Amino acid sequence: MPPLLYEPRRRLWLLRTPSTSYAVRIDEDDVVRHVHWGADLTMAQALELAERTPAAGSSFDAVGGAEELAVEGGARFGPPGLQVRFADGTRGVEWRYAGHDADDGCLSIHLDDRHYPLRVTLHYRVHEDSDVIERWTTVENRDERLPITVQRCDSAAWTLPCRGGYRVSHLVGGWNSEFRLRRSEVATAETVFTSRRGMTSHHANPWLAFDDGTAGEEHGEVWSTALAWSGSWRITLHRDPAGRTTWTGGHGHEGLTWSLAPGETLSTPVFAGLFTTGGFGAASRAWHAYVARHVLRHPGELRPVLYNSWEATGFDVDEAGQMALAARAARIGVELFVMDDGWFGRRDGEHAGLGDWTPNPDRFPHGLRPLSAEVHRLGMRFGLWVEPEMVNPDSDLYRAHPDWVLHMPNRGRTELRNQLVLNLARPDTAAWAHAWLDRLVTEHDIDFLKWDANRPFTEAGWPGHADPDRLWIEHTRSVYEIMDRLHADHPGLRIEACSGGGGRADLGILARTDQIWTSDNTDPVDRIAIQHGFSQLFPAQVMGAWVTDSPNVATARQTPLRFRFHVAMAGALGVGGDLTTWTEDELKEAAELIATYKRVRPAVQHGTAYRLTGEGALTAVGYAHADRFVVLAWCPSRPYGHQPGPLRLTALDPRATYRDPDTGATYSGAVLVRSGLPLHLPEGDHASVLVQLDRIED
Ligand code: GLA
Repeated sequence: MPPLLYEPRRRLWLLRTPSTSYAVRIDEDDVVRHVHWGADLTMAQALELAERTPAAGSSFDAVGGAEELAVEGGARFGPPGLQVRFADGTRGVEWRYAGHDADDGCLSIHLDDRHYPLRVTLHYRVHEDSDVIERWTTVENRDERLPITVQRCDSAAWTLPCRGGYRVSHLVGGWNSEFRLRRSEVATAETVFTSRRGMTSHHANPWLAFDDGTAGEEHGEVWSTALAWSGSWRITLHRDPAGRTTWTGGHGHEGLTWSLAPGETLSTPVFAGLFTTGGFGAASRAWHAYVARHVLRHPGELRPVLYNSWEATGFDVDEAGQMALAARAARIGVELFVMDDGWFGRRDGEHAGLGDWTPNPDRFPHGLRPLSAEVHRLGMRFGLWVEPEMVNPDSDLYRAHPDWVLHMPNRGRTELRNQLVLNLARPDTAAWAHAWLDRLVTEHDIDFLKWDANRPFTEAGWPGHADPDRLWIEHTRSVYEIMDRLHADHPGLRIEACSGGGGRADLGILARTDQIWTSDNTDPVDRIAIQHGFSQLFPAQVMGAWVTDSPNVATARQTPLRFRFHVAMAGALGVGGDLTTWTEDELKEAAELIATYKRVRPAVQHGTAYRLTGEGALTAVGYAHADRFVVLAWCPSRPYGHQPGPLRLTALDPRATYRDPDTGATYSGAVLVRSGLPLHLPEGDHASVLVQLDRIED
């Protein structure tokens, strides 16, 4: 069955994914309206539905049927996804259908304004191996002389079937508390999810999921969308009093205007969406598979066990100290050693040095080569922390180029963490950033960069530029471009995305990076909730998770080493503790746990993830990979001393038999599915267990 079907009489398209379909039609007024997003339909069924979609209402609500891109213009009163103003002051658009292209899973519907030289194209892309539908918009100024002002240009609007009510799932947070899942009723109102920070943000994430209030982890209809953009963004959810639920989203926040020069085309980021009948768990698994198949650059690689120096040494890094950490890291089985902040310029704290990307001569008298060589000699890869988008005012770079930062005339330059944002939308600043990164990677045999960005934009001006708000788009594009060039020139280089922890986690950055530093909060109890939220969209292989010291630096909570490892093993495992203070027993235990992780790593990183519902304080995840199922279960506290009941593993095959290679115990699949796996958790708080089950026969 071809993925794109067209019915010319009704001007209706039916897009088909392996188990869902999506339909749009062009009405007589040449407006593209939504028909269906959900279970698979035949063309005949889609046509039946198209006839049924409501037409115009009363004079107070003159436009009927939700639009695929909600424009400003005419009797439309909902949140617009496209707002333009032409040179003569006219606002809004009136559509004339201008044809379409359909090829290889991609549909482009072209719309022209009836009077002005504006061409808008709605793009759709479907894949044979995914239920994710990718959508984006291009706007083109076809005039030869005059600019067009763009006040809003969203990637897409999405529409739910009319139902009595909906629930929205979204992620909230802050520094040290990212990705906390919230579920709330969709209000009959406009609800805005946004970042005005120039970064994706810790506070909200451009991922949403919708259900009618009845879905669960493993059952029910769920619609979910995610925007592939790492700068400011806005998604406006609108439920009107008639019960129509739509959301429109794209890059940029409210109040920005972009001038589209004669002949210029602006392309939005992809806004991806999927539908499933398998609940929130199936939605996440569909996202994970999509990320692996269509977003990541190196999905088939196993992420190495990483060591990072940040919590161990802070800014206090030097050659001898890092070599001592590296020696111990290698001993316990670490595969990638990353030196964090403090290695360059006069960077002995937050106040200075950012921007001066040459090794600090007191700390590294012979440069970074001896450390890089030693790390490689120990059999590990070598990584470095960088923050290319930022500068301390106390730096040689800022003294030489004070105009390179985001700033405005007659306004202060607000410092956050003693730093300012470099305007990478400027070609000269971007060229400088690319040049030193390229040199650094080349000259020091760098295998991995942790690319950080530790503050949001303020006073985001670009003096002298005719269209200064462009920086909100161009800065992010420039980050993408620099990463793309580094990848092209250094095929072995891997990059971790970081923004004060998980402040830049989205599908856009994931197309250029291999993993995300999930949160600066490494407390394993807090991490359980953070990882739960993160896993809604992102697969375990991109979830950076370190084992650090106890008591935890952020929460002062004391937890056993084993518990810390078991929580971090649910992602791309790393170690971030001060290994020079770990006892021989601790190093031995860490080495054993890392060896265990390496054994289960193909399942964790390349398997299919299940968030398992435990009893009481028990949380667990399971990863299915070929004939193996790996369970990680955590119980932070044990109210009344009760042992949690068996953990049901409904993803297993009830006809099969499974064996735990560590204990030799065998279980029938039917018992594991219906009654569950007895966990035998150790006594007391912060108990955890890792169980591997191998299918042995049918
Ligand atoms: C940010 C990161 C940390 C660490 C510091 C270094 O906060 O999230 O992991 O790299 O910067 O200054």
